[in-house]
Amino acid sequence: MNRKNFYMQSAIDLAAKGKYTAPPNPNVGCVIVEDSKIISKAYHQRAGKEHAEILALKNLKKKVNDKMIMYINLEPCCHYGKTAPCTKTLINSGIKNIEIAMLDPNPKVRGKGVKELRKNGIKVNVGSCKIEAIKINKDFVTKHEKKRPYIIIKQAVSLDSKITSPNKKWISNKFSREDGHYLRAQSCAILVSSKTIMNDNPKLNVRLTKKKLSIKSNIRHPIIVILDTNLSIDITRFKVFKTKTKKIIFNSVKTNFDKNNNIDFIKVVSNKNGLSIQAIMKILSRDYDVKNLLVEPGKSLLSSFLDKNMFDEIIFYKSTSIVGDDGLETVDIEKTYLNTKKIYQDSAMNMLNDVKITYKPKR
Ligand SMILES: NC(=O)c1ccc[n+]([C@@H]2O[C@H](COP(=O)([O-])OP(=O)(O)OC[C@H]3O[C@@H](n4cnc5c(N)ncnc54)[C@H](OP(=O)(O)O)[C@@H]3O)[C@@H](O)[C@H]2O)c1
Repeated sequence: MNRKNFYMQSAIDLAAKGKYTAPPNPNVGCVIVEDSKIISKAYHQRAGKEHAEILALKNLKKKVNDKMIMYINLEPCCHYGKTAPCTKTLINSGIKNIEIAMLDPNPKVRGKGVKELRKNGIKVNVGSCKIEAIKINKDFVTKHEKKRPYIIIKQAVSLDSKITSPNKKWISNKFSREDGHYLRAQSCAILVSSKTIMNDNPKLNVRLTKKKLSIKSNIRHPIIVILDTNLSIDITRFKVFKTKTKKIIFNSVKTNFDKNNNIDFIKVVSNKNGLSIQAIMKILSRDYDVKNLLVEPGKSLLSSFLDKNMFDEIIFYKSTSIVGDDGLETVDIEKTYLNTKKIYQDSAMNMLNDVKITYKPKR
């Protein structure tokens, strides 16, 4: 690895530290190098807080000089959002050399940040470690390019392909369930059906400690999204409605904002298969800034997401237990999708006696 890539990879590794706290913002890290040494570093920790490059300048123990090179994995912003434009601070700081891994896919910024820096006499180079940089912000890129969140679908499946069991609370083992909580912790929102709320009464929160997530600030719980076509859920009965977390109930009846209970009811079009998945994805991305979504579906919802090609990863936690005839069978993903080459198996990982299998779409 050449030196440039080494420093940029350091910025990318730092960016990854923000993955549980930075959403819905992108993961951004920054290092400042002088005489081949990293003399300051930082990463973006939370939406509304300082961006990585501003924090790296603050952490710097000496005055900026012409020898210093700043490495950032994402183009600095040049617009007013929750914070002031970073380009202004960089120009005023006196830094003269900036390396950027990739342009910001947000149309408000894309290329404009680099242009402004160059116009003000800063030498800017774009493109080191671009593939790695895109990978770490694949959800942010998807949000801007596809106008929908990056979608991860997750199911726990028995050896005989059942997703419910009359005798057992959980299909998968505790290692798989903990792994699922890491997925929740990095997600902006989690989506389930009315059926899951009524049958399982889940909490849908993150049940990991700060220590496990290696974070100091408060745990960020994902927005809870429920599909309830005819508004048949009694909101006084279920655990999710006892939490302070924002809830969005997509339905075909009404749009109404219940501030007391922190529930947004959003009406969307529906047809015989249910509510429009495309419309819901568009609203989550556009109006709720959801860059990544974790879907925990039963059989019907899984089918709908697959049929509409609305997924980026499907994760099956396959257990070795047999449920038998009384469980609900899931979609035969191997037969219907793997054999028709719509998806491919990306990885398989042992979770003690479960196997975590990740499928991705063939594009
Ligand atoms: N093992 C696992 O990982 C796992 C994960 C999640 C759930 N589950 C289990 O799965 C069971 C539910 O499975 P399920 O197949 O009956 O239900 P599901 O797939 O979770 O959801 C289907 C329901 O979602 C609503 N819906 C709205 N728009 C839809 C659309 N476009 N496409 C599909 N559904 C839409 C409909 O209910 P409305 O008409 O009320 O809107 C529909 O009946 C639960 O009992 C739960 O225990 C297991």
